[in-house]
Amino acid sequence: MKRLSGKLAFITGASQGLGRELAFVFAREGAAGLALVARRGERLSELRAEIGALAPATNVVAIQGDVGQPDDVERMVATALAAFGGRVDVLVNNASVLGPSPMPYLLDYPLEDFLQVLNVNLIGPFLLIRKFLPAMIDFGGSIINVTSDAGITGYPGWGAYGISKFGLEGLSQTWAAELTGTAVRVNWVDPGSMNTAMHRAAEPGEDPSQWAEPGDVTEVFVYLASDESAKVSGRRFEAQGEWRKQAGLSSDSMVAQTGVQRSDFATADRG
Ligand SMILES: NC(=O)c1ccc[n+]([C@@H]2O[C@H](COP(=O)([O-])OP(=O)(O)OC[C@H]3O[C@@H](n4cnc5c(N)ncnc54)[C@H](OP(=O)(O)O)[C@@H]3O)[C@@H](O)[C@H]2O)c1
Repeated sequence: MKRLSGKLAFITGASQGLGRELAFVFAREGAAGLALVARRGERLSELRAEIGALAPATNVVAIQGDVGQPDDVERMVATALAAFGGRVDVLVNNASVLGPSPMPYLLDYPLEDFLQVLNVNLIGPFLLIRKFLPAMIDFGGSIINVTSDAGITGYPGWGAYGISKFGLEGLSQTWAAELTGTAVRVNWVDPGSMNTAMHRAAEPGEDPSQWAEPGDVTEVFVYLASDESAKVSGRRFEAQGEWRKQAGLSSDSMVAQTGVQRSDFATADRG
């Protein structure tokens, strides 16, 4: 049995990196529909064709747009809901920008760049959650926000990016708390260091082969998108950490879900 059979998912930042890998793995796991978002529409069209060849039963909707623009967010949500009959089961807020590279210290950070990073990485997810909620409240839904260790530790030079992820952590906790008792759950995942364009731009002097490939960190996302995590909300996961143990799963199986309940929110581990 495929783990995402019948699921309808909306993934931002799907044109490359982690988002692209999530699109492939969600399709492979039987997702009925994928709404894929990025600014570069041509990349999404290519991806739709690739997924079509591998998983022809998955209805892929490519939506070109900028999650940092409220009008685009409005259109993206309307397009996905129209394509999926008013339902979306999974929202992955993955799209993100790093800001200027090399990364300036806060003292030198251009205000325009600072605002853009916050708009894309924080305001975009806030608006997307708000716009999808009416549909999710009726049918239930899993919201997964992609965070970073730079969202819990203030590293010099990680400026607006890190601050936006601090905000995303707070946004995630607050949405999860406010949605307690509903069928909508909110969790957030730090994927850990990955060999992607973003990380190569952030640390150009480092050897990217030391970082995980984005396709290797997708398992926790499948878990959170699936019904195996139906009672899990308000939790922070580390994709390259001990998340299976944290979730009460055995290392080779995602079936033995135990003990992670909404009521655990107040005592959730701070990875
Ligand atoms: N790479 C790492 O080591 C690492 C570590 C911790 C956390 N993360 C997080 O993991 C997530 C994925 O990162 P990644 O490394 O895969 O990044 P990436 O390779 O730079 O990909 C980012 C994606 O977001 C899209 N995007 C950027 N701005 C957008 C906007 N305004 N509107 C819509 N789409 C937009 C990009 O597509 P377009 O350019 O076509 O719009 C691209 O598809 C991010 O949230 C990142 O913060 C990454």
